[in-house]
Amino acid sequence: MAWYIGLMSGTSLDGVDAVLAEQLPGRPAPRSHRHAHRAFPEDLRAELLALNRSGPDELHRAALAANALATVYAELVQVLLTGAGLRGGDVRAIGAHGQTVRHRPGAFDGTGYTLQLMNGALLAELCSIDVVCDFRSRDVAAGGQGAPLVPAFHAACFGAPGLHRAVLNLGGIANLTLLPAGGPVRGFDTGPANVLMDAWCQRHRGQAYDAGGEWAASGTVDTALLERWLTEPYFALPPPKSTGRDLFDIAWVDAKRGSDGATPRDVMATLAELTACTVAEALLQHAPATADLFVAGGGAFNAHLLGRLAALLPSVRVQTSSALGVPPDQMEALAFAWLAHAHVERQPGNLPAVTGALGPRVLGALFPAA
Ligand SMILES: Nc1ncnc2c1ncn2[C@@H]1O[C@H](COP(=O)(O)OP(=O)(O)OP(=O)(O)O)[C@@H](O)[C@H]1O
Ligand SMILES: [Mg+2]
Repeated sequence: MAWYIGLMSGTSLDGVDAVLAEQLPGRPAPRSHRHAHRAFPEDLRAELLALNRSGPDELHRAALAANALATVYAELVQVLLTGAGLRGGDVRAIGAHGQTVRHRPGAFDGTGYTLQLMNGALLAELCSIDVVCDFRSRDVAAGGQGAPLVPAFHAACFGAPGLHRAVLNLGGIANLTLLPAGGPVRGFDTGPANVLMDAWCQRHRGQAYDAGGEWAASGTVDTALLERWLTEPYFALPPPKSTGRDLFDIAWVDAKRGSDGATPRDVMATLAELTACTVAEALLQHAPATADLFVAGGGAFNAHLLGRLAALLPSVRVQTSSALGVPPDQMEALAFAWLAHAHVERQPGNLPAVTGALGPRVLGALFPAA
């Protein structure tokens, strides 16, 4: 048995999720032993958000933000170790996602890259544990999207012969993994999830997110606005595809609103419906036989959104990933513990059928403990 730690901070910019996991030999699925979450300090969150756009002295600022992020990650590692009564030397490796500030994959035309801020050297220095980070770049270098990476983990752990399953992650962006019985595994980003809803909630209510989706549930969907949003070309693109704040941010909402008279509450209801609709349509188009949809990510705590998904998918049983034994807020961090394990074992972490990469690749860059 070996211990691994997965650290994830996603596009919602809510903070960092950390999982201490046991990887048993011969068993594909790591078992989560302990979870910790830390919200970003407000100044770090604001800086990471700002770094999603070009700005003055951004190389220097990005380097400092990567240092600050490594420090927050290291604090969470310590919380996990202390809680479990372990020492750094007991952990085989840390899988650290870092913070995406640009995601612009492209084919071999020299313009494709994806950038996750993280000072892996500093994290290894602070923790004295092997650190694997920068998981996405190798897949992009091989012509892939570099995202989503979790489908390989979902397939290894949750695929079941004879069952038509799908796993949905509702983070800042929504991504689907399709696990059809006997069929090929596929996966892609369907579009925005919390990233737009959070920004709208922050602007109009001063709150980081719409707890339980209650504000959205109190509004009325503006169907004309929804139709206009659904004309976004990204939604009609065939997979492989991935997206991020580069496309879907508050400026996208503002640019597409035009002069409609919808109240903030109705816009919120419409944003929630946009997520539910784009996920449901993607599932019906690409895996219509799906019987079970397992929802992970912070959006799994949005009861209104889950209710809308269930309503739009009457033949699908919609439940949170807890039904698979993994609480929604641990799934992504657990995946990066698994990806660190894959790196250590020199096993590929990507699925070329999902990302569009030329072939399977060992993902990540290693910073040894000493
Ligand atoms: N109780 C809740 N009700 C509604 N939404 C919630 C609740 N708790 C969390 N969320 C939403 O989940 C978000 C955080 O989710 P999560 O951490 O999975 O996203 P992420 O960090 O962007 O990850 P990624 O994009 O990599 O999947 C919050 O920003 C918020 O929008
Ligand atoms: Mg998060």
